[in-house]
Amino acid sequence: MIKNIKINTIKINTIKITNIKINNIRIKNHSSIKNKRKFRGGKNMLVTTKEMFEKSMKEHFAIGAFNVNNMEIIQGIVDAAAENKSPVILQASSSAIKYARINYLMKMVEAAVEEHQEVPIALHLDHGPDFETCKMCVDNGFTSVMFDGSKYDFEENIRLTKEVVDYAHAHGVVVEAELGKLAGIEDDVNVEASDAMYTDPEQAKEFVERTGCDSLAIAIGTSHGAYKFKGEAKLRFDILAKIKELIPNTPIVLHGASTVIPELVEMCNKYGADIPGAKGVPDEMLHEASKSGVSKINVDTDLRLAMTAQIRKVFAEEPSAFDPRKYLTPAREEVKNTVSHKIRDVFGSNNKI
Ligand code: G3H
Ligand code: 13P
Ligand code: ZN
Repeated sequence: MIKNIKINTIKINTIKITNIKINNIRIKNHSSIKNKRKFRGGKNMLVTTKEMFEKSMKEHFAIGAFNVNNMEIIQGIVDAAAENKSPVILQASSSAIKYARINYLMKMVEAAVEEHQEVPIALHLDHGPDFETCKMCVDNGFTSVMFDGSKYDFEENIRLTKEVVDYAHAHGVVVEAELGKLAGIEDDVNVEASDAMYTDPEQAKEFVERTGCDSLAIAIGTSHGAYKFKGEAKLRFDILAKIKELIPNTPIVLHGASTVIPELVEMCNKYGADIPGAKGVPDEMLHEASKSGVSKINVDTDLRLAMTAQIRKVFAEEPSAFDPRKYLTPAREEVKNTVSHKIRDVFGSNNKI
């Protein structure tokens, strides 16, 4: 018979230890590393995607989620967001985190947040491959994580996603999940075009209900990288409409959504690159998606092209230049212009702060 229960929590720096005693017998000694929110003044100014997504669904626009790897890319993105008064999502894949190193990444994002306190900025893990990676990001202060279980079967995807949701929600972090398969390369996962599978709307509803995920990435014809379509670009807006009908309050995410901006591809090729026949999702389709219930649009390839085009130009036109600032300054400016164009002319997230 239970006579008394004692729960005692002590905190040593960021470690929280909870002792639970029933009838004087210790049954649980649970310690957890508290979400490291160490931004200036002890205040983390990063936001989750919750509010920005609510606004996007109400006012029919999309938020750009831009992949980051280094300082110049981060600066270009947040400068554009600030100039256009737009909320923004900075996202890092596990290989980007490996490249930049987590401590550098957090400090650079911290600096961006400090410099642009008026801009709602979320930090998101892109294509989290497993629970451990998601947990590591939650523990380090990310405000949103994606668990990408799209390579698993439906039941296994639900089981693994739910594990991440339980942990992330307990720490105030939101979770994006994925259902359906995109063609192309997703981090370490290479999905053949023939294996790509559109998201089933009925399954999407069941998946969201059973996992409790906060947003859902769907497959409607986009794919990662610079070669998205062999012939004409085509997206299944009918599937998107059906999904929105069944789960109207779930923010929808579009991966593989770079335009593969023709001018940037041309510029890269003009200055020595070999990227023939690259093709992305036209701006008009992304604009339609933004108006039709897509809340988050992922962009990586266009930023890679922007940087590469400008760096190649400097190398080709000024062979004597070897100061990295000489080529990284125009590269950062091109990232900013590219992000500004998307925010203002395509996603419609300008003046939405
Ligand atoms: O969807 C994948 C993103 O473009 C990230 O690519 O793993 O090469 O950083 P990455
Ligand atoms: P792109 O390759 O089209 O830029 O897609 C990026 C992406 O989906 C990141 O998750
Ligand atoms: Zn993606």
